[in-house]
Amino acid sequence: MAEMVIIGSGVVGQATGKGFARKGHAVTFVDINPQVIARLRSEGLKACTAGEVPWRQVDIVMLAVSTPSVDGQIVLDYIEAAAEDVGRGIAAVNHFITVVVRSTVPPTTTEQRITPILERASGKRAGVDFGVAMNPEFLRAVSNEKDFARPWITVLGTCDRTTAELLDEIYKPFGALIVRCTPTEAEMIKYVNNVYNAVKISYFNEVHQICESLGVDSNLVSSTVARSAESMWNPLYGTRGGVPYGGACLPKDTTAFMQFVRNHGWEHQILEATMEVNARLERAVPAATSPDLIEDVLAAVQARDNAAAQGKELEIEIGGNRHVVL
Ligand SMILES: NC(=O)c1ccc[n+]([C@@H]2O[C@H](COP(=O)([O-])OP(=O)(O)OC[C@H]3O[C@@H](n4cnc5c(N)ncnc54)[C@H](O)[C@@H]3O)[C@@H](O)[C@H]2O)c1
Repeated sequence: MAEMVIIGSGVVGQATGKGFARKGHAVTFVDINPQVIARLRSEGLKACTAGEVPWRQVDIVMLAVSTPSVDGQIVLDYIEAAAEDVGRGIAAVNHFITVVVRSTVPPTTTEQRITPILERASGKRAGVDFGVAMNPEFLRAVSNEKDFARPWITVLGTCDRTTAELLDEIYKPFGALIVRCTPTEAEMIKYVNNVYNAVKISYFNEVHQICESLGVDSNLVSSTVARSAESMWNPLYGTRGGVPYGGACLPKDTTAFMQFVRNHGWEHQILEATMEVNARLERAVPAATSPDLIEDVLAAVQARDNAAAQGKELEIEIGGNRHVVL
């Protein structure tokens, strides 16, 4: 069992710390807000300021401080200040401490901003004297503790083997699909995940407006599409970058629907942008559909049908990752 310190004991920090405590790890919460510390202590939990952490006992530090956007700029001051505190703690001990970035940060932050601060403040080398990882959180604020306890995916971005093995060990008991990658890939996954959700919501908002103007039930349309769209049965559909969409239907139907919307004087900015992105890619890449892609899709269709016939869930392995296809 590990000795863990959670730095930044808000929504993510508390869900993380309480979740690991339930699995038997010893957890100390750290915050700069005295009220947060007092509240956690009143719940019978260990909580203190960074200056009071017993670094000699610590195996893992989780950085879960806020990373707000102010005037369109991300504020990394809190996480950088927390990294300074941790670096000083690492300087004071002779054992390997693993530092895990859980806050959402722009790609390259862990390797290019947090690691240098840790190295400077500790006088030690990352990957040799201490470990660094990026492990983004996907929980929803409303159900944070439940989501942490039952994650659907765990992303572990690491640079050294010791850190990768340690995180594997502490996350395996949660039972989620584990994706192993670099810290920058982990940071990318978190942002792309959130942007994808934002694009999906905006897409269905535009659909909603068009449905309202047409006088049709937008809920029926959107919820049916959410079930009928190909990504519902093949989660990898559309995710291979570098090839524009083509074939018999997508170019003709996107053009026709765009025309229909324009003819009514309505708007569909996401479709406009989609067609522009595709046209730009087509100028760079011949629109011929990749034979690999066709083979992958046909194999996935066949495997899905076989699994469905046996009433089973299907797991496929692509690029070293497991995917469940329902
Ligand atoms: N809330 C969510 O649903 C959610 C989900 C996934 C990821 N995230 C990300 O996780 C991170 C934390 O989010 P949150 O919602 O838990 O934030 P929060 O505001 O609830 O908690 C952050 C805590 O960090 C403390 N803090 C700030 N600077 C500190 C420092 N130097 N040392 C110690 N403590 C410090 C604050 O006092 C606060 O208690 C953010 O990067 C956020 O984007 C949030």
